[in-house]
Amino acid sequence: MKTQVCWGDPLLLINAAHPMPEEEKPALVPVAEGRPQVWLERRAARLLQACIQAVGGAGRIVPVSGWRSRAEQRAIWEDTLAKEGEAFTRKYVARPGCSEHQTGLAIDLALAAPHIDFIRPHFPDTGVCGAFRKQAGRYGFVLRYPAGKEHITGIAHEPWHFRYVGTPHGVILSALDLTLEEYLELLEQYEDAGRPFRFRLGEYRFGICRLPENCPAEELPQGAGGRQLSRDNRGGLIVTTWSREG
Ligand code: DAL
Ligand code: ZN
Repeated sequence: MKTQVCWGDPLLLINAAHPMPEEEKPALVPVAEGRPQVWLERRAARLLQACIQAVGGAGRIVPVSGWRSRAEQRAIWEDTLAKEGEAFTRKYVARPGCSEHQTGLAIDLALAAPHIDFIRPHFPDTGVCGAFRKQAGRYGFVLRYPAGKEHITGIAHEPWHFRYVGTPHGVILSALDLTLEEYLELLEQYEDAGRPFRFRLGEYRFGICRLPENCPAEELPQGAGGRQLSRDNRGGLIVTTWSREG
């Protein structure tokens, strides 16, 4: 059976301990309203736009920084180091090769304003930005670097940085208050226990399994309603299956 490959591997973990694989080249599209042009992985771009539209954020929520090449991340790292010093840079800028912006699945957002800080854009909890935060999970986006989890993510609280993890994972991470690191750890515990993590969302029932990345296609679970595959960049393949009730 042919393996269905997930769009852009939405659960790819990129952090200091899990660098971006050199050979990865996301399929990118421009995000409307990004000035200068901001690029994101195709599906992440579509869902971001949908979420912004849903909360009436067009023209009020500005995409500031999406996909970055390794060279661009290096330039940002060096520029910030020169201007702000090492302590600040380590808090707010991932080392070149270790930024999830390189996947095209991360986006920094700002509330529209005459001046927008590129490294730490202002994206408040209130108003249209607050509405975006509330809806983000349903569109597959999560606040990637929350307060209180700095010891896990290795990055300071970044209220402006959202990461596309897809559906239903965005809802699960928000509901269980998990970082991507913690979620993948949890899925590994279920793998060890030999059972899928189950989650119900509306009329859909999801089963989420972690398997070795090289698992033969014929051994992957099937879903009555559909199936998505995503590598996790930790040697695992996350298989999400679903069925619809009724
Ligand atoms: N600001 C985030 C951590 C990055 O540089 O990827
Ligand atoms: Zn960012």
